[in-house]
Amino acid sequence: MNAQNQNDRAAWLQGPLANCSVPPERVKPCWRLVLLGPPGVGKGTQAHLLSQRLGACHLSTGDVFRAAESRTNCFQTSAMTAALEYMHRGTLVPDATVWEMVRERSGCLHCRGGFLLDGFPRTLAQGEALNQLLQEEKLSLSAVVDYELPLIEIVARLSGRRTCEECKSVFHITQQPSQAEGVCDQCGGRLYPREDDRPESIAVRLEVYERSTAPLIQFYRSRGLLLPVAASGSPEEICARTITALEQRYQPVNQNIER
Ligand code: AP5
Repeated sequence: MNAQNQNDRAAWLQGPLANCSVPPERVKPCWRLVLLGPPGVGKGTQAHLLSQRLGACHLSTGDVFRAAESRTNCFQTSAMTAALEYMHRGTLVPDATVWEMVRERSGCLHCRGGFLLDGFPRTLAQGEALNQLLQEEKLSLSAVVDYELPLIEIVARLSGRRTCEECKSVFHITQQPSQAEGVCDQCGGRLYPREDDRPESIAVRLEVYERSTAPLIQFYRSRGLLLPVAASGSPEEICARTITALEQRYQPVNQNIER
């Protein structure tokens, strides 16, 4: 299982009028996963690796907000401008704004390679809304991977994260350093600390996670979908651990018999 995925995720990042540069190949059967876990646990890092290994598309709501931020202000709706303010403070964007954004991108849930939802759902209301949308679209989830890591390591990961201004690749100043300090290995872009990785925003995000997102663990456990995975070790070790655990307990979705 090693499906290289060169997709630029344009339909997800820019909205349904955009076309993905290289739509993922049809993967039969495919994985449709939700990645859960606190901010900084490594969901985005794992989504990148799992996408390469499983061929599934990485659908991150945080990436949609950051992509909107990098476009000029005149292309932003007032709801998006407000959403970015919530994001910078470390609080959640209102459910209605997130839901509208996901719903208009629902075509991505039919991606031929499957999908990896990262950062959505993030509240019980979003979990219920996703269930309903999947039912309407006649799609089912394969599993929900819940990454677990001690708080002290989470804070260290967030405090040292650096993101490329251009290609959005993610590094860490000590754990995953770029070859030249402050310069992206992939494209030479400038590396910067995310605005919501300031200490005061990190504290807010962790508190918001416990209050609003952690209840989704029981929500998915009670539906028999929860797969807890330890997020310690190298990214490659965690990715291998995830795939082994998935294959032992869950099945990918057979797209032939679904509809
Ligand atoms: P989002 O972008 O989803 O952020 P998050 O959930 O807070 O998660 P992060 O991206 O911070 O961390 P991650 O788990 O992906 O870790 P990463 O792989 O980068 O959301 C941002 C904001 O948008 C929210 O706060 C909210 O305002 C808004 N938002 C988004 N979705 C929303 C929704 N559905 N509803 C409402 N609001 C929403 O790794 C972190 C660091 O650790 C990196 O530096 C990485 O290099 C390093 N690292 C990763 N793995 C390892 C490892 N194994 N060993 C050592 N270092 C590692």
